[in-house]
Amino acid sequence: IYLGIDIGTSGTKTIAMAEDGSILAEASASYPAEHPKPLWSEQDPEHWWKATVKTVKKVVQLAKAKPEDVKAIGLSGQMHGSVFLDKNDQVIRPALLWNDQRTAAECEEIESRAGGRKKLIKMVANPALTGFTAPKILWLRNNEPKNFERLKKVLLPKDDIRRRLTGEYATEVSDASGMLLLDVAKRAWSTELLSKLQLDSDLLGKVYESEDVTGNLTKQAAKQLGLTTDCVVVGGAGDCAANALGNGVVKKGILASSLGTSGVMFVHSDEMAADPEGRLHTFCHAVRGKWHMMGVTLCAAGTLEWFVQKLCAEMRGPRGKSDPYTALMKAAEAIPAGSEGLMVLPYLAGERTPHADPDARGCFIGITLKHERAHLTRAIMEGVTYSLRESLEVLDQMNIPVRQVRAGGGGAKSAFWRQMQADVFGKKVVKLNAEQGPAFGVALLAATGAGAYKNIQEACAATISEVAETKPDRAAKKVYDKAFPVYQDLYQSLKADFK
Ligand code: XUL
Repeated sequence: IYLGIDIGTSGTKTIAMAEDGSILAEASASYPAEHPKPLWSEQDPEHWWKATVKTVKKVVQLAKAKPEDVKAIGLSGQMHGSVFLDKNDQVIRPALLWNDQRTAAECEEIESRAGGRKKLIKMVANPALTGFTAPKILWLRNNEPKNFERLKKVLLPKDDIRRRLTGEYATEVSDASGMLLLDVAKRAWSTELLSKLQLDSDLLGKVYESEDVTGNLTKQAAKQLGLTTDCVVVGGAGDCAANALGNGVVKKGILASSLGTSGVMFVHSDEMAADPEGRLHTFCHAVRGKWHMMGVTLCAAGTLEWFVQKLCAEMRGPRGKSDPYTALMKAAEAIPAGSEGLMVLPYLAGERTPHADPDARGCFIGITLKHERAHLTRAIMEGVTYSLRESLEVLDQMNIPVRQVRAGGGGAKSAFWRQMQADVFGKKVVKLNAEQGPAFGVALLAATGAGAYKNIQEACAATISEVAETKPDRAAKKVYDKAFPVYQDLYQSLKADFK
């Protein structure tokens, strides 16, 4: 049996997987995030540990497994978060999370210390974004100098769990890429940037490939989890790369589009290629020696969630009794493609790709007396899908091929939204047999690290298959192709007014 543990932002999900990829048991435990000031987002790492212990014990019990049956564990988690530890491994202050936005000044500081944005992108393949980890370390130095003096190690969320499981300070290439301190081309810490930022490389853990074993459970951890010290922990992956593995995105030409609260367009690449303008993230993939590019729409299905919660509250009958999403989408499907001239910019929480603009805002544009709720719903779905297409356009400019789109996340459950993706992207959209997400992806890494598969590509091929394919509809594609440049122009015309 192999375990996959995903340390998410709202909770931890653990699965127990058999060697053939079947899921024997799953368990989740939730916890809060704190927002002590506007733009701040923090979490106490202790929550993650407690949730890990609870969910691991639960899945072992549900799977009726003996302690020695559990051969390996794969770790995944929210990326970019900063766990600050002192010399006794005590957490110095709550971790700053990926969606914390307090570090604008530190991002400028990093670009200037690096000698400009272009030079920074040359060193670490990405520009400085407020969510990344390096700006968080500088924030601690600039704002809490006493805490910074005590700082001995900075670990990512899942790597702090690894420390508690194995006693090792270690990470792996996919999550390390999001710290903005990794030379993504060389898959090793950037000594050049570390020295320009005057940060000691001892602050960071040892970097592994994602399927490599990083250690065994300590006696204490094995006892606490009810497992044995023969159980190994593999590198694992940041949640985006782990999710991509769970969708079998391990070959050239395959892209995973994920429509959750945020939307992610994730493509595998055999070569390392960074967008000189830094619009997409270029990170190491959790596939040995490979990379990936990724575009993020901050408010994807989140825009529809906002619409339902704030503007369609009367549709939300008693829990489980009615599903406003299905009803709204059914009505939206009857509206013609293009929403009769209504357009939505889904920037309700600012936007990452391609604008990297925290000041961008959501808009409905082109409302007439004719438009009804169904139009608004459809226009939201179209606006979100255009936003995902912007990532495809950047990939196209970078000559990264995309042959097939694999749709996942809550939004992909709707055949209507899958068809819309096929029409807006002008590409085949595929649905898979099972969508288990990040925990499944790292359980596959665990099985690989323990020797059940030769590599992660083989593990994906043995466990993941395509069940449905949607082809673009020519007439709808024509409408969307005409509307897309208008969508792009709208942001350009409005961006100064968002400030
Ligand atoms: C990726 C990112 C988010 C977090 C959330 O760059 O910021 O997907 O990993 O879990």
